[in-house]
Amino acid sequence: MRTEDKPVGFFDSGVGGISVLREAVELLPKEDFVYFGDSGNAPYGTKTVEEVRKLTFDAVDFLLSKNVKAVVVACNTATSAAIEDLRSEYCDMPIIGIEPALKPAVEFSRKGKILIMATPMTLAEKKFSSLMRKYEEEAEIQPLPCPGLVELIESGVTDGPLVEDYLRRKLEPFLESGIAAVVLGCTHYPFIKGSLNRVLKKDTPIIDGSQGTAKQLKRELTRHGILNRRNNRQMIEIFNSSDDPKLISLSHRLLESKGE
Ligand code: DGL
Repeated sequence: MRTEDKPVGFFDSGVGGISVLREAVELLPKEDFVYFGDSGNAPYGTKTVEEVRKLTFDAVDFLLSKNVKAVVVACNTATSAAIEDLRSEYCDMPIIGIEPALKPAVEFSRKGKILIMATPMTLAEKKFSSLMRKYEEEAEIQPLPCPGLVELIESGVTDGPLVEDYLRRKLEPFLESGIAAVVLGCTHYPFIKGSLNRVLKKDTPIIDGSQGTAKQLKRELTRHGILNRRNNRQMIEIFNSSDDPKLISLSHRLLESKGE
């Protein structure tokens, strides 16, 4: 099989990476995709870095057993824990990671704080500290760890009073003084954007890195000369480490959902 005909592998601690996959599916209609959600071990964001690194390597090994030509680590937490080690281990293959999209939020130059919603681990890791240092002179940046939110989304709750109450509790302290923008630094969070919009003041920008990551995947496939140009029947396979079949149907539901 020619390398360009092989699928692209996607991985997340659970169903969150589907928010990145749905962008890639649209941007690259001639690519096939294999998605692996590690819901059996989610959430990652409250584990140790060593645990997440091990789980990430296991997930990549699973994707390699499916004959993928590139891997997208569609998880901010796994990216901060393991992306460098992955790239040195699998140096012949494009490995794309994701990090909180702080740059576009700063470029909005709106008054108030930029809130970065992410898992406790993403915000505690040095990858995030160096990202924050890059922009801290230009903007007021407020990290906002959101433990518990991934679990809600993994259970299929993306809307309604539970999510809205959680968000209201988290955001209330900042609503009065003004929020410049909200950055979604966890790939699960785009699925609660509707609730977030209801809690925030109208017109507050909500930014996530899924489109940027899909574009980066396209650039990397092009650079390696392995972009699929002739496939007319896109295939998407979804696997999950949990034995609960609801996770697979939830993944398909989220894949079909609209980005807004
Ligand atoms: N989607 C993962 C991320 O982007 C969530 C991590 C978790 O399982 O806590 O960080």
